Amino acid sequence: MPIKLLAISGSSRNDSVNSRLLAAAMKASRALGAEVTLLDLRTLALPIYDGDLEAAGGLPDGCIALKEALAGHDALLLASPEYNGFFSPLLKNAIDWASRPQEGRPSPFNGKVAGLLAASPGALGGIRGLPAVRQLLSNLGVLVTPGQLSLPRAHEAFDSAGGLLDPTQRQALERVIGELLTTAQAMQAKAD
Ligand SMILES: Cc1cc2nc3c(=O)[nH]c(=O)nc-3n(C[C@H](O)[C@H](O)[C@H](O)COP(=O)(O)O)c2cc1C
Repeated sequence: MPIKLLAISGSSRNDSVNSRLLAAAMKASRALGAEVTLLDLRTLALPIYDGDLEAAGGLPDGCIALKEALAGHDALLLASPEYNGFFSPLLKNAIDWASRPQEGRPSPFNGKVAGLLAASPGALGGIRGLPAVRQLLSNLGVLVTPGQLSLPRAHEAFDSAGGLLDPTQRQALERVIGELLTTAQAMQAKAD
């Protein structure tokens, strides 16, 4: 069975470099046989998590849609910007909402594997935000693969077709995707 991969960018900004890196990663994933879905966090219109809001109205529609998307995929591929050394609040808020319990449903993070990407116009490529994403997902029971890619100078890293100009970065991206899909396949085989 092909691996079902859910791709999520931690930036909803038009022309986001993280979304551009994610698009290149999605293409590489499809070339390796994965079935890839892009989830745009902006479309979920999630409010900032507030316990009173949840108590009064239950889980918002966007939260339920996110939980269903997570539950329906084997693997996650996340690309997050770095804001002051951390990953984006958009991504954190979405993960927090998705972690809220829903009666009769297991956690949508159970048995998932994730790969991490970051991109920044800066010299470090957003790498400082990724350890916290790794820790957060691990806390939720997600297996995060060891490899990751942080893309520096990301605003000048792509060609007009959206591919990575630097062959070394291209290979690094393919390694991250390869590791993610291989791990997901191993987990799928174990579950069968
Ligand atoms: C509040 C804020 C804090 C930022 N902090 C960092 C940072 O710590 N490291 C970094 O490399 N870039 C930082 N940046 C620049 C972002 O990497 C840049 O805006 C990037 O384009 C955001 O990702 P996106 O293009 O995917 O939206 C910061 C940007 C903002 C708005």
